[in-house]
Amino acid sequence: MVIGQIFPIHRLGHEKGKGYKSFITRKTLAKRFMGDLKNRKISPEQYFVQNVEAAKTLYDPRAQTVYTEFSAEEALINQHISQILEYLNCRVPVFWGAGRKEAALVNASSNNIPLAIVIDIEKAYVKDMIDRIDLSKRSRVKSLIALFQSFSEDEQKKYLQQMLDGKPAFHACLGTTIGNFNQHELFMIFRDTMQVGDYLLLGFQLEKDPEKILQEYRDDRLIEDIVKLPFLAALEDKGVGLHSWKYNYDEHQVEYWFTFTADYESKDSALVFRSGDAIEVFRSKKYRVEQLRSELENHGLQYVMHVAKEDHCLLLLERV
Ligand SMILES: C[S@@+](CC[C@H](N)C(=O)[O-])C[C@H]1O[C@@H](n2cnc3c(N)ncnc32)[C@H](O)[C@@H]1O
Repeated sequence: MVIGQIFPIHRLGHEKGKGYKSFITRKTLAKRFMGDLKNRKISPEQYFVQNVEAAKTLYDPRAQTVYTEFSAEEALINQHISQILEYLNCRVPVFWGAGRKEAALVNASSNNIPLAIVIDIEKAYVKDMIDRIDLSKRSRVKSLIALFQSFSEDEQKKYLQQMLDGKPAFHACLGTTIGNFNQHELFMIFRDTMQVGDYLLLGFQLEKDPEKILQEYRDDRLIEDIVKLPFLAALEDKGVGLHSWKYNYDEHQVEYWFTFTADYESKDSALVFRSGDAIEVFRSKKYRVEQLRSELENHGLQYVMHVAKEDHCLLLLERV
């Protein structure tokens, strides 16, 4: 099978450039996508590299998506900015995922932040973030175009440590991003990448009313444009299967599934699905603070404080 048929290579935005260090190729991402399809579970980076234009709506202040409108995370950050800056100032911020809020944190710092580090799979979002940074701050942004999952490998960890050069760091993973990942795997990555004494700020959605959350995702056309992958959308158009949302009460997460309504086999037989087979395309976990807190404590991340508003929460931890 020609990889370009299932993986829209032309939509990817990795180019070489000053300040960007890429640890991954499009070919690897395409191969991973094939693996995900075979395993019937899509990894979170795939929507962000395949649907760049749609995902950019996350950073548009006029857009109303479950990320920006309902989460109100940005309002929460603004409301508690002086408290957050007490921990952030004099540290190097390391952002796991680039966006508007990350730029706002750099802009809000009273001391100039000489260096900010950002890790993201897609350069387009990093560029967007850098464009939002106030030039008078004179902050230098170093970016790693890399998979979070590959931080279990030494090469990326070493590169990050070289950039930090022994300075204490303030890590942040905002925008409900943690909810898209295997929890144990991601928390181990944070634990193994952070130095003792570093902080980690997490932004996520609380599990207040699952039915309401499910309805919000169902009604959100923008989120659907982000998570509906071109290959599966084409199969749906051909009448081979259907997408649907559901709430998984055991895992406490909203999920997006593609279910085959007919048998499907790719020309080279690399992909074979039977009617009734299903692929878990997307998941977003919702949390209870106490439960998350104890899970993180099992991963060497000690509770410092949290703030919450409506269904959104910011939690600060220290690597111990
Ligand atoms: C939900 S967005 C949040 C962006 C930003 N933190 C915010 O709050 O607006 C998730 C970000 O993480 C990046 N991302 C998702 N999966 C990733 C992965 N496996 N490795 C590296 N970056 C990833 C995406 O490209 C995207 O920029």
